[in-house]
Amino acid sequence: MLTIRPFTPGDIALGMRLKSAAGWNQTEADWRRALQLQPDGCFVGECDGTPAATLTFCCFGPVAWIAMVLTDPEFRGRGLASALMRHAVELLQSRGVTTIRLDATPLGRPVYERLGFAVDYELNRWKREALSAAAIDDSKYPGLRQASPEDLGAIMELDRQTVGCDRSKFLAALLAVSPAGAFITDGTPRPAGFALCRLGSDALQLGPIVAIDPKVGRLLLSTAIAETGKTAHYCDAPTKNTAAETSLRAAGFSSLRPLYRMTLGEKRTDDLALLWAASGPEKG
Ligand SMILES: CC(C)(COP(=O)(O)OP(=O)(O)OC[C@H]1O[C@@H](n2cnc3c(N)ncnc32)[C@H](O)[C@@H]1OP(=O)(O)O)[C@@H](O)C(=O)NCCC(=O)NCCS
Repeated sequence: MLTIRPFTPGDIALGMRLKSAAGWNQTEADWRRALQLQPDGCFVGECDGTPAATLTFCCFGPVAWIAMVLTDPEFRGRGLASALMRHAVELLQSRGVTTIRLDATPLGRPVYERLGFAVDYELNRWKREALSAAAIDDSKYPGLRQASPEDLGAIMELDRQTVGCDRSKFLAALLAVSPAGAFITDGTPRPAGFALCRLGSDALQLGPIVAIDPKVGRLLLSTAIAETGKTAHYCDAPTKNTAAETSLRAAGFSSLRPLYRMTLGEKRTDDLALLWAASGPEKG
């Protein structure tokens, strides 16, 4: 029998086991952040009393993001992910959420399509190996500097322009964990771009990166790479942002696999010219 219960801090070990089985990049801190951002939005699916699947969501007003949909390989194909998804969708809709979004892997996509989610656009997961010798653009953008908590309002405004909702609580949490990898440009009346990142178990995940033009995007990308050390990097960029793809290739990234941004409910139109890097499969 399939049952669903809340995910608690005691389930982080389960979450880490499932994400490792799937080859994902999350850390314990990512699970803790999901719990902190939406304590009532994290769930465990059990099969005959054995915890075997997870799902988290995070609400931003009328928009919610679903993430961390993972099933233990031994328990796949028994309806756990579908049951968790139905539970989350019903709960969110009962709370007045009108748009439910996620970034799907090729394995997740058919599960979501059966529930009515449709693909908005494709992203590519890019990886730059540690100590890659590829050149990075080291020209300077005047006014490009490390971001601080005082920049949160400006970051939120640019982010809202890009994805159409106020994600301050998520952006504040990312800014808090990536101070050495958070950058913003000065600019009037608004900054020209920003970059945040977080440390994963395998690689540093760049994103979100938002830039008003390709020059700013290129410099944010190369500054974030240069300043975050000799680790490997991941970056999830929309395939329609060809300037981002060109810059990623030039900086030594290779394309790994596709991701699909999907929506159930009212459509939101992301500005893909501004979006250089999504924040990773956690929150789009
Ligand atoms: C994607 C993933 C979460 C799906 O989990 P799952 O628990 O196996 O999903 P479900 O069982 O609900 O659905 C999977 C399949 O089983 C089928 N199924 C559902 N209930 C079933 C049942 N009772 N008996 C037999 N088959 C069933 C579904 O129709 C679906 O068919 P498909 O293979 O044609 O898509 C899982 O494969 C996984 O963890 N993958 C790695 C991580 C990942 O990519 N996550 C998605 C992130 S977006």
